[in-house]
Amino acid sequence: MRKKNKKILLQTPKGMHDILPSDEKWYDRIYKAFRKISEFYGFKKISTPILEYAFLFEKGIGEATDIIEKEMYFVKTKGDDLLALRPEGTAPVMRAYFEHGFNKLSQPQKFYYFGPFFRHENPQAGRFRQFHQLGFEIIGGKSDSIYDAEIISLSSELIKELKISNLLININSIGCQTCRPKYIKKLEEYYKHNSSKVCKTCNLRIKRNPLRVLDCKDDKCQDIKKNAPNIIDSLCISCRNHFKEVLEYLDELNISYNLDQNLVRGLDYYSRTVFELEVEGLGSEIGSLGGGGRYDYLSQLLGENQVSALGAGLGIERLIYVMKAQQVKLPEKQGKKVFIIHLGDLAKRKTLLIMQKLYDAGVSFVETQDKESLKAQLRSANKVQADLALIIGQKEVFDNTVIIRDMHSGLQETIPLNKLTEGIKKYIKNI
Ligand code: HAM
Repeated sequence: MRKKNKKILLQTPKGMHDILPSDEKWYDRIYKAFRKISEFYGFKKISTPILEYAFLFEKGIGEATDIIEKEMYFVKTKGDDLLALRPEGTAPVMRAYFEHGFNKLSQPQKFYYFGPFFRHENPQAGRFRQFHQLGFEIIGGKSDSIYDAEIISLSSELIKELKISNLLININSIGCQTCRPKYIKKLEEYYKHNSSKVCKTCNLRIKRNPLRVLDCKDDKCQDIKKNAPNIIDSLCISCRNHFKEVLEYLDELNISYNLDQNLVRGLDYYSRTVFELEVEGLGSEIGSLGGGGRYDYLSQLLGENQVSALGAGLGIERLIYVMKAQQVKLPEKQGKKVFIIHLGDLAKRKTLLIMQKLYDAGVSFVETQDKESLKAQLRSANKVQADLALIIGQKEVFDNTVIIRDMHSGLQETIPLNKLTEGIKKYIKNI
């Protein structure tokens, strides 16, 4: 219960933010580009709930990960169910795939999604507690390397479409259930011999989630990490061939990449290909733009049959940050603008009828009800770069007419109100 008389703070919770009208256009731009590319490649939109059973993430992402140990928001229901605000979208899409019988349809199934996610992290540049992600997932079928290349290609197409430059793709393979345990043994041995030379977190991680030692950023551990056994050398023949094919596909697509033997990702469900996208020069400032990989065992972690799967997720706030930093211009809004000007109370009343007519004709308009003088309203029309002004005063109200003024030439004419659409079309061809 909130304490009585406690001052109400009119502000968003820490790490969360409003998306103001001036920023919505950036989200729209990204969503439109993302939807266009996803649908072109045969992905279908899916929306899963903001809340899921906490169990889904604990089992799917892994209990010894930062997300599960520190970053989940839990909600206890009145019926005693433990739910969690979704920290990511992959486990929910996999849950939906089985719950709705997508596993019984032709394989693979391709999904895309866009929406808010929640992680209780320390807010900083590009890191929020509520953020937005877009994601694509391919679930089912064979563990075919062509899909790994398709997901990376889609991600890089989207970055290109958004006019972001200097993309870096870091890629690695972390093997399968056959070869990874052997690698982990070697890694454990190596860190056991060097335990006094690495940080506390590495000593903890090597016991609880060994691969994560390769993610350590502590200066003290860098030399040890550099000389650690290389996971690529431990891949079984099948994983090695799979990774080789992925790289060959990327070469064929002319997509450049950087092999990064330390890339292991922060979620446990991955196997074989993992990758991260960053922008040169901004990586240390905001972290990765996106990341993803194969997760062929996630379905088993959730108690289902094994299905091959892979995907990627990109952070919208980070994409916007980069677009602004690189001074990307948003495409100009298509279509001409009409500004409605009213003079006097009777005319003001008519403006609603005019708006209705414009809406029915598919013409976008701007109006300002709070300004009264013709001069002030014309100034506003110029400010928004309107192409036409519709002027209605006392006389026009009584005559049931409206004045159309071409804002470029300054010419104007009076037309009957019931001929408004035709009148506008004469001036504006492409409405
Ligand atoms: P992730 O690497 O945890 O992967 O997140 C993907 C992207 O979401 C990050 O690269 C970043 O851009 C953005 N992001 C993550 N946390 C935050 C935050 N606190 N604030 C702002 N942006 C953030 C996943 O979530 C996987 N589900 C991706 C995936 C899809 N793998 C396979 N399919």
